[in-house]
Amino acid sequence: MIKTELCPADEAGIRKGAELLRRGELVALPTETVYGIAADATSNEAVAKIFQAKGRPQDNPLIVHIADMEMLEGLVSQVPPRALELAKAFWPGPLTMIFPRGPKVCDAVCAGLDTVGIRMPSHPVVQAIIRQSGLPFAAPSANLSGSPSPTNAADVWQDMDGRLPLILDGGPSQVGVESTVVAVMGEKPMILRPGYVTKEQMEEVLGEEVLLNHAITEKLAEGEVARSPGMKYKHYAPRAEVTILKGSLERYTEYVGQHREEGVWCLCFEGEEALLPLPCVTYGRQGDGAAQAHDLFTALRLLDAKGARKVYARCPEQEGVSLAVYNRLIRAAAYRVVEL
Ligand code: TXA
Ligand code: MG
Repeated sequence: MIKTELCPADEAGIRKGAELLRRGELVALPTETVYGIAADATSNEAVAKIFQAKGRPQDNPLIVHIADMEMLEGLVSQVPPRALELAKAFWPGPLTMIFPRGPKVCDAVCAGLDTVGIRMPSHPVVQAIIRQSGLPFAAPSANLSGSPSPTNAADVWQDMDGRLPLILDGGPSQVGVESTVVAVMGEKPMILRPGYVTKEQMEEVLGEEVLLNHAITEKLAEGEVARSPGMKYKHYAPRAEVTILKGSLERYTEYVGQHREEGVWCLCFEGEEALLPLPCVTYGRQGDGAAQAHDLFTALRLLDAKGARKVYARCPEQEGVSLAVYNRLIRAAAYRVVEL
């Protein structure tokens, strides 16, 4: 057990965080997407601690975070023109690009791949810590492997107390789901994980088609190799058994009405609670992907706190930011989807 300190992400907190990172320790910190666990991306020893703290499978690579374009030097071995265009449009922000790996990145970050994911976050706390420590850092979401990503410091504390020395509290995350991951090499760019930056937005910037990896909305086939290793794991799951019900609100209401039992909860859209015959937790309004993304992980953790055993979820749309929400929710539901 490590003694964990929870500090505000103010000047003193940031100084303490930067020092710990320089010494090869872990720091949990806020970003605009979700909270992350940072470690020096150039040190195998430091990065190994991330895998240990999270209980993360060794073959799942990490994203490296930078504060400016100069930091790309040595982290990647090539920057294709379309990556520069995407960086100009969406960095700093919730977009991760996959590059051929450079010599500065330690082996543990890449988990055996010859590529590396890079993101330039916009959150001022992350920017300040990178600048003060002078280090690019690897940072996965700050949850125990498999559980919903944390979007506030209390949720990080719940998973990480006793596992790392410092949690910086910078208030709730703005976006609420992890960054969009896009492979920029190859003939056409391909989204490996949907997020707040959408396919449509990237297509507009690039003037070319951006593909969606099929594993975003479908379960991988038996033995299939994942383009993004994170896609193959059970993910974002609360303790409750989640089932997505695809169909109209009317059909949904009817279905949950027939499944009224102790411990059964609805995960519905805002404004629908009054119609439903079961206790409800909401996640944004129907059609409002940004609001859904903002609330989803908090809602999943709240359902656990309420002691929910079974959860019937309203189904988000599969376009725009809602695609990111759908992608997280089907994993939380272990692909249990009922067509109404
Ligand atoms: O918003 C975010 O990206 C957050 C915050 C903390 O920055 N970080 C995050 O990291 O979500 P993590 O480790 O929870 O998710 C990283 C995802 C995984 O699905 C992983 O498989 C994929 O990115 N990934 C990382 N490097 C990759 C690579 N070289 N090739 C393909 N996929 C990669
Ligand atoms: Mg994660």
